[in-house]
Amino acid sequence: MSVIRHLAASAIALFAIDAQALDMGHSYANTTQFRTTHAALDLTADFDSKRLKGYVDLTFERVAPGAELILDTRDLSISSVHLQGSPPTALPFKLGKTDAILGTPLAITLPATLTAKSFILRIDYETSPGASGLQWLTPAQTAGKKQPFLYSQSQAIHARSWIPLQDTPQIRLTYSAHIRTPPQLLAVMSAGNDVDAKRDGDYSFDMPQAIPSYLFALGIGDLVFRPLGPRTGVFAEPVTADVAAREFSDVESMLTTCEKLFGPYRWGRYDMLILPPSFMWGGMENPRLTFVTPTVLAGDKSLVSLIAHELAHSWSGNLVTNGNWESAWLNEGFTTYLERRIVEVLYGADRRAMDDVLGLQSLRREIAELESKGDGQLTRLTPDLRGRDPDDNFGEIPYEKGRLFAGFLEARLGRERLDKFLRGYFDHFAFHSVTTQEFDKYLEANLLSQPGVDISKADIKEWLEGTGIPAIAVLPTSDAFDRVDVQRKAWFDGKTPATQLQVKGWNTQQWLQFLDNLPAETSAARLGELDAAFHFTAATNSEIVHSWLKNAIRAGYAPAWPRLEQFLTSIGRRRLVRDLYDELIKTPAGVVRAKAIYAKARPLYQVPLAQQLDDLFKPL
Ligand code: BES
Ligand code: ZN
Repeated sequence: MSVIRHLAASAIALFAIDAQALDMGHSYANTTQFRTTHAALDLTADFDSKRLKGYVDLTFERVAPGAELILDTRDLSISSVHLQGSPPTALPFKLGKTDAILGTPLAITLPATLTAKSFILRIDYETSPGASGLQWLTPAQTAGKKQPFLYSQSQAIHARSWIPLQDTPQIRLTYSAHIRTPPQLLAVMSAGNDVDAKRDGDYSFDMPQAIPSYLFALGIGDLVFRPLGPRTGVFAEPVTADVAAREFSDVESMLTTCEKLFGPYRWGRYDMLILPPSFMWGGMENPRLTFVTPTVLAGDKSLVSLIAHELAHSWSGNLVTNGNWESAWLNEGFTTYLERRIVEVLYGADRRAMDDVLGLQSLRREIAELESKGDGQLTRLTPDLRGRDPDDNFGEIPYEKGRLFAGFLEARLGRERLDKFLRGYFDHFAFHSVTTQEFDKYLEANLLSQPGVDISKADIKEWLEGTGIPAIAVLPTSDAFDRVDVQRKAWFDGKTPATQLQVKGWNTQQWLQFLDNLPAETSAARLGELDAAFHFTAATNSEIVHSWLKNAIRAGYAPAWPRLEQFLTSIGRRRLVRDLYDELIKTPAGVVRAKAIYAKARPLYQVPLAQQLDDLFKPL
């Protein structure tokens, strides 16, 4: 079966290819002919075989003629497809050729007699134990060590590994689900969660708001609930629940802050689920139920801006959704800007400036790295991702360059006017998808053309299509960081010993500014001076340990090796893990150490991260 041949043969071939180009080829679904409106899942979680087993009823609307319906799948065993009716009709289906990035198209032949505008297909299927979007954990890999755990991660294109569907943000659908688990476990989803649910292994969910497939989410484990406010709360394993509730006690105010700035929260409740440490992301904005890495539980709220970020996606991302993965900056850039605005209201302008400057520094490092690899085009807000895994585009560019773009709009328009524009944008596109091109048109019609707006089409083109950081960017600065830089220099130049540095009252961000900018030539002996004074090797804040270990690897600071191994074998968050391996493999001795650690750590890591690291080690 060939999707292309099928489209070419169709009478509406040109129209179809054109509109499908909106998704730039990360989905096989023929969405210009059929659109899913609802999914009803009925799945049993079998922890022994590491499989979800059951069926999904997909409701379709026909928007153009066609006899073949194509869905996305990856590593699914499909046992049957039925057209629902009385009686149901078994339909012929075929799996196409498997692509390493996109998975396997499932082509279903519809009966010629089917003329209804709307119809339901039941697909009976099972997932595979290595499904890229599911993580099956043994009790030993959880916080409580007694019960197994399952979580999903659908973004960017992994929903297809646990549900056969049209896996593209061009399509939004509502869903319901019936999930069976071992009776001692609780299931939660990106849907209405009953915070008082009785644990009996039989759970039902309803998601009445239409969402894109990458926001389908499921978590199953030994979970308890702690309320935080009238609309907010946290699910976690019993040993983590109280720690999480303390760390996140500001989340209800984050929610009301966000509403004041950007309009009503349209999703009902906002709860969080603390995942085991293997979760490869910091957070995932699954609607009504953000998934969170336990590495943000620093004990002092120093890393809760991550929750502000995921919460802000309730506007930029979940309400107004990037129409394809090339447009990811529309989700991540505006969300990073919104996140910083929330941080400013809750924790002050100084703290916000620090986050902005740390973000800018990470952006600069990444741009330098991409340019040195000859990948300058990937520094555009609109990269060409054809033939690439969209997960690989989620470095600093969509986040921090996108946030600089929003900062530029703010500088040119003033805050009030930008906020008004954003509120209008969220309202206009609510529950719809937007590509960069569509955003560009909207911006031109609703902003650039307005009287008194000092932004040209060329400015916007430079932001959307240019590489690197545009010269017209407005760059953040932080006085608090300037003071950190003075201390670091005095120490590095040998003028002030570590024990006499003026570090009183420094927050986590200031320590990161100190550590992230230690000169590359800082020796192991000199790191020893810092360690003796500040005990970085023994630190528990995951971001500080990460920055410290990067320096330790670079300088060959051996006293940190046990901590390095312990860190890499207990945390699977990609951003904290990946660049430590990158740093290690720069020397032959480091390669040996990296391989030995990775052999132990690999079973902990989430499927896509293990695959990426396998690729990293393959040539070594
Ligand atoms: N949506 C992303 C996570 C994501 C991106 C998952 C791409 C899969 C593919 C989420 O909102 C996010 O940005 N998380 C960040 C944290 C944030 C504070 C920058 C992360 O995971 O580090
Ligand atoms: Zn995000």
